Amino acid sequence: MTYTRREQFLPFTRPMVGAEEIAEIIDSIESGWITTGPKAARFEDALCEYNGVAHCLAMNSATTAQEITMQLLGLKPGDEVITTALTWVSTLSTVILQGGVPVLADIDPSTLNIDPARIEAAITPRTKGIIPVHLTGLPAPMEAIWKIAEARGLWVVEDAAQAMGAHYRGRKIGADPRSVFTVYSFHPNKNMTTGEGGAIVCHDERHLERIKRLRFHGIERDAWKRFQKEGSPHFEVMEPARKANFMDLQAAMGLHQIKKLDGFNARRKHLFLRYLELMKDMEEVVLPVPGDAVHGHCHHLFVLRIRPEKAGMDRDTFVARLKDENIGTGIHYRPAHVHSFYRDYYAQRSHALPKDGLPHTEWSGDRLLSLPLWPGLTEEDQDQVVATIRHVLAGR
Ligand SMILES: Cc1ncc(COP(=O)(O)O)c(C=O)c1O
Repeated sequence: MTYTRREQFLPFTRPMVGAEEIAEIIDSIESGWITTGPKAARFEDALCEYNGVAHCLAMNSATTAQEITMQLLGLKPGDEVITTALTWVSTLSTVILQGGVPVLADIDPSTLNIDPARIEAAITPRTKGIIPVHLTGLPAPMEAIWKIAEARGLWVVEDAAQAMGAHYRGRKIGADPRSVFTVYSFHPNKNMTTGEGGAIVCHDERHLERIKRLRFHGIERDAWKRFQKEGSPHFEVMEPARKANFMDLQAAMGLHQIKKLDGFNARRKHLFLRYLELMKDMEEVVLPVPGDAVHGHCHHLFVLRIRPEKAGMDRDTFVARLKDENIGTGIHYRPAHVHSFYRDYYAQRSHALPKDGLPHTEWSGDRLLSLPLWPGLTEEDQDQVVATIRHVLAGR
């Protein structure tokens, strides 16, 4: 396609919410029950069925979901959890908020996911667990991670915020009980959305009641049942806890989004592979890997890395030039340890960073950007994105 300047701004993502979701939300409003209720329960059943798991509990965000998992695992001050810096900061903050220390291991630059060899090197007598992140929707190398965890007596909690619909060795992310918990996000830029929302997959029934308590005031029973005819208005508070319940209004959206998810992901895959084809000759950028039979990508993000020495400009200039051309991009992510709080935090805890630093994380973190990718993106939009990239790079 030849270059023409885009008239209207093209965002890097857009939620795909249709008439079914809207009708279901109106139905909830008209029913008189808009907070946690029967639709939230049905949505949890749908999550279980989709992911092939026995228990999945929904709440207001993946951040809360992850914080609850850390509380359940009973982190004590100084307990160490190994994770990646190339993630959204909630992966780290939820550990710190529960008294633990996120110990950072470098990534594999070919996938952007945590490198198991680096995990091994980060283990100390204080290590309690590992949080791999399936960044961009590409599964982390779980077999190697579970092997390390098993050998060292560590738990694994998967940050699958970006991975609804991804699979590993033929099973949905979250389905393998070797990870004690897996957390999903339904934020508007994810592959399916409930407005805001998150969920925890839990394989051990003994945790279920506590998760329910921890997401809703420490109360023993679901509030909505108290207002049904057969319910009792009495309830018991067992411990202090947050209020992070999942509303029927959110479930109204989720019940339809989950039915559409495989279709959304098939379209994402088509567009992802098409980007790869359209840009295969561009030496100014490093293209992402598309996944394989073991690592079943859900194509949440198309993250490329710019090579400033070939492109003649750095990532931020490239992003600004694309924005001038009405092409939106995202940055997923600026590594956590370079944010102000974490710079100070790790300056005081040098043991929580590898001695040789995080060179691959920093190399990629300085160069990465996410191109527009969502199911409603057209091939024409995509052609225009690539033609504009070529135009910007030629005009450097
Ligand atoms: C890797 C990762 N972890 C956690 C989160 C947090 O999800 P939520 O916004 O639902 O709290 C996100 C969301 O952007 C994410 O990308």
